[in-house]
Amino acid sequence: MEKIISLTKRRGFIFQSSEIYGGFGSCYDFGPLGAEMKNNIKKAWWNEMTKNQENVVGLDSAILMSPQVWQASGHLTAGFADELVECKKCHKRFRLDELKEKKCPECKGDLTEAKKFNLMMKTFVGSLENEAATTYLRAETCQGIYLNFLNVLNSMRLKIPFGIAQIGKAFRNEITPGNFIYRTREFEQMEMQWFCNPKAADKFFDYWKKARMDWYLKLGMKKENLRFREVEKADLAHYAKRAVDIEYNFPFGWKEIEGIHNRGDWDLSNHAKHSKQDLRYFDEEAKEKYYPYIIETSAGADRSFLTFLVDAYSETKGGRTKTTESTKEVELTLKLDKSLAPVKIAVFPLVKNKEQLVKKAKELFSLLKTRFVCQYDEVGSIGRRYRRQDEIGTIFCLTVDFESLEKDDVTVRDRDTMKQERVKVEELTEFFNQKINT
Ligand code: GAP
Repeated sequence: MEKIISLTKRRGFIFQSSEIYGGFGSCYDFGPLGAEMKNNIKKAWWNEMTKNQENVVGLDSAILMSPQVWQASGHLTAGFADELVECKKCHKRFRLDELKEKKCPECKGDLTEAKKFNLMMKTFVGSLENEAATTYLRAETCQGIYLNFLNVLNSMRLKIPFGIAQIGKAFRNEITPGNFIYRTREFEQMEMQWFCNPKAADKFFDYWKKARMDWYLKLGMKKENLRFREVEKADLAHYAKRAVDIEYNFPFGWKEIEGIHNRGDWDLSNHAKHSKQDLRYFDEEAKEKYYPYIIETSAGADRSFLTFLVDAYSETKGGRTKTTESTKEVELTLKLDKSLAPVKIAVFPLVKNKEQLVKKAKELFSLLKTRFVCQYDEVGSIGRRYRRQDEIGTIFCLTVDFESLEKDDVTVRDRDTMKQERVKVEELTEFFNQKINT
């Protein structure tokens, strides 16, 4: 993990938030390459969950909602809280379920009785800071979907089964954030809620469970690093009838990256009760009204980011590109799927002190960067430049050499096979369109 964290900082993927002020509690900023890659992950998810599915539409709802939403959803009551104990000596707080003994893990002091600590982040709306102005930053994006169930159903003239997908920020006052961006207090979720007849819920649960695992595999994640875990009844979230986690084998152990939940009619029936609106669905065929059951797929964009990064990280001892001076040096490659790689093409002139090579390389860079994310690099040997690009997962490196000036072609080198081929300049855009195709 340390190597990955250091790479992400050195190469502009992730920075500590508020770094010049000493950092701010487990918050992170995505740098230029991180922002590209995170957008690519979100785009891949969005395409898969809307365009590639039948009957799933998108939504972008507000982060701030009526505080009543969180009463109805159960998040303000005992449902969404961690049990904490406090050390009577050093006053640090710890999660009860993470303690190995009944003493403070830091100073061995005595601990208080456990108390529930709610994870919702409070804020005030308007000029007064009183109870009436209090609301919360959303702790899960899906609540905005439930509130818009009827709006979407009616405006889009949908019939169940159908789904609503949404990507957006969520906030939780996590007691023990950690493992870099694995658990943070501000994060992005990619959630889809599938509304269906209660009798069909089990069937759709199986469908979405498989579909979500297939998404990670399709994007190149190694099968042996992924598994399902059925969540035990005692550990189910307050809203869930059944839950299966997709877990990944991180350097810090097997951990959840996504949850597939059967939420039953918990959300719609509770919002109906609290809002006094009829949120039932009228089934024309069966001529009956009922609350649809909800099958939820809930993934984290930041957590997926970390997972794709860890899975793609590869080290070759002794020099993959044979440009390392010491054969003991390790070369890094991020073998990211081409749709996720932040930079698609790097453009190099063979040497920087030959004006014609630089001119042609810059022309090609200007041409290609309108269609693909590209980098131009003229510093150091070609081998060193390949290594810099491999480290950030760039799919192709294109070199303008002396032959290019005569034959109007370039060398294109593939990150994974390291094969080089010559491609005519007039065919370049089509060549990359075919190969990258995202
Ligand atoms: N709507 C259901 C829900 O929010 P969850 O299991 O609490 O379920 C779903 O969260 C996903 O959201 C997790 O699998 C994870 O990918 C992401 N997630 C949750 N808490 C997170 C945190 N503190 N930091 C980063 N990602 C988080």
